[in-house]
Amino acid sequence: MEVHSHEHRHFMPKRPHGLLGLGEAKYKEMYQESINDPAAFWGRIGKTYDWFKPFDDNKVAHSDFHTPDIRWFEGGQTNISYNCLDRHVAAGLGDRPAATFEGDEGEVFPFTYSELLARVSQTANVLRDAGVSKGDRVTLCMPMIPQLMISMLACARIGAVHSVVFAGFSADAVADRIVDAGSSIVITATEGVRGGKTVPIKSIVDNAIIVAEQRGVNVTRVFVTSRNGQAGVEAREGEEGWVSGRDVNMDALAAAASPECEPVAMDAEDPLFLLYTSGSTGKPKGVLHTTAGYMVYAGETFKYIFDHPGPSGAAECSDVHFCTADVGWITGHSYLTYGPLLNGAHSVAFEGVPTYPHPGRFWEIIQKHKVTTFYTAPTALRSLMVHGDEPVLKHDLSSLRVLGTVGEPINPEAWTWYHSVVGKKQLPIVDTWWQTETGGVMITPLPGVTTLMPGSATKPFFGVKPVVLHQDGEVAEANEAGHLTIGQAWPGMMRTIFGDHERFRETYFSQFPGHYTTGDGGRIDEEGNVWIMGRMDDVINVSGHRLGTAEVESALGEHHDVVESAVVGAPHAIKGEGIYCFVTLRAGATPSDELRAALKQTVRKSIGPIASPDAIHFTQELPKTRSGKIMRRILRKIAAGDEEEMGDTSTLADSSVVGRLMKSRQAFA
Ligand code: PRX
Repeated sequence: MEVHSHEHRHFMPKRPHGLLGLGEAKYKEMYQESINDPAAFWGRIGKTYDWFKPFDDNKVAHSDFHTPDIRWFEGGQTNISYNCLDRHVAAGLGDRPAATFEGDEGEVFPFTYSELLARVSQTANVLRDAGVSKGDRVTLCMPMIPQLMISMLACARIGAVHSVVFAGFSADAVADRIVDAGSSIVITATEGVRGGKTVPIKSIVDNAIIVAEQRGVNVTRVFVTSRNGQAGVEAREGEEGWVSGRDVNMDALAAAASPECEPVAMDAEDPLFLLYTSGSTGKPKGVLHTTAGYMVYAGETFKYIFDHPGPSGAAECSDVHFCTADVGWITGHSYLTYGPLLNGAHSVAFEGVPTYPHPGRFWEIIQKHKVTTFYTAPTALRSLMVHGDEPVLKHDLSSLRVLGTVGEPINPEAWTWYHSVVGKKQLPIVDTWWQTETGGVMITPLPGVTTLMPGSATKPFFGVKPVVLHQDGEVAEANEAGHLTIGQAWPGMMRTIFGDHERFRETYFSQFPGHYTTGDGGRIDEEGNVWIMGRMDDVINVSGHRLGTAEVESALGEHHDVVESAVVGAPHAIKGEGIYCFVTLRAGATPSDELRAALKQTVRKSIGPIASPDAIHFTQELPKTRSGKIMRRILRKIAAGDEEEMGDTSTLADSSVVGRLMKSRQAFA
């Protein structure tokens, strides 16, 4: 990506909280300590959180990347919901706003810390009364309504492991996740509403449960909440799909429950949540995060990256944080829910889509709630840029202090637009690189401290040691591209893949022993800025959503006309990457637009609308090596229309196939 001119690169957020009045020298000093003596560094920070039993000062960090075996804050007992809620109420922040949910049509549902604590406790009591206990996996499949955040915190309060499944997935995809987690409890909502359209979430969940049962996992209890309690359809006995004895009305039960619920003392390494994400092979994996390390890492990254004063300064802080992510993704876990609440901050959540009812919706929300820190994805910015500057300029964005992006590389056009039109050339942009697996942000500028480099996520956060390695394991020189790995443990990192520790080892620690492999390519320049260069494996990033090409191939294979397929990502103006599918049909099947539509439908049914193919290219031949391996590198070039850069095709069994495929290349629909 282009490096822009050196002007306008150093921005102090308006009204800095002084945390980062630290300056670059102080950052470097803290960073060095965090790398040289992680136990001292994180031990000190860990003590600023509340513990039922303090952690052992000699066991702050245990890192073994070979077994692998990672533990933080051992001996300590705490509860993240206590740290998000009770702690602040006890400190007099009870009347401060904690979370504000803005509905699809602009309805506002605000919660103070006291209110949120009461609601979480009521829900926790309902779960506990139903027999849900520590270690049980609870699947949450819900729209972006307050009950989603409340349910997560309620699970955490009683030690149940939440597994939030994005409500846009298909029934089959929800079933996969219920089965893998062995989750017999589900919390859902009657329906979701996005962009004026109703999503029948309960019926998707009902179907998912039928599929899960066929695979041997029985869901015995479904807690159904109505959308927003006040609005939308109510969850009722007798309604279509209602299964007596299994389904219960969460709203009624919670309203009748006590607003006090003793939090469970969790060991530092007790599981907190599972979140499924795609890998390059196989089914999505259940990324497991544990209690204390995740808590401290989510809390600290939020504080420094969004320049929040933390709980002690929260009473005087007028900051309002708006993260546009859905709670169904890690960003919604760490920077909509846990990170802000751990700091006593005010978090704004939005149910709808950026373009409904008009393409100025984000800016309207910023104006309406006086948002100061705004965190979104490049794909959202690209989709809004096409509507021009006017929807932005119509709104008063003067409250903004810090802008952030996450999820995919931000292209120079989007960066410049964000910086000049949204940020009026005055605000720092934090381009944050991280992953579901890392729990929190790993590489990012700190506002007011780091010199911004458009296109670079710049510097590692405290405790993060990025190392770029060549294929042979040699450390790359400055500016040499290679595999981005992390050289030592940090508190927020995942601890295992649920139910498959060997897959955890194999996926992240086997390619470069002693290093955590991110799957991304990157380079580090002479000044220590990290430049992310996209995935090196068969994972694609569609509108900031991670998909394994193997998952899409397996979905396509469910159609009886498909013999073989190969799916690759190709550059897409809005989505970042689009889904390009090469499909070989069985003898007798005829390529047609109807078949294309049917295949798209098959994928949507198997995974969900986010995996809907952008192009389907029927072909009876694929570029294969003599040993029969599909050369995906070549398919990526064909999908991108990149004829010149084809590289070496000499190992192909028949290299003439490349020219034929190039000729029949499909444009994105
Ligand atoms: O390829 C990187 C890309 O998103 C991947 C992680 O996806 P996921 O686990 O879904 O988490 C997304 C939200 C944290 C990474 O391996 N990615 C994420 N942030 C950036 C990025 N690529 C470039 N720049 C970023 N800021």
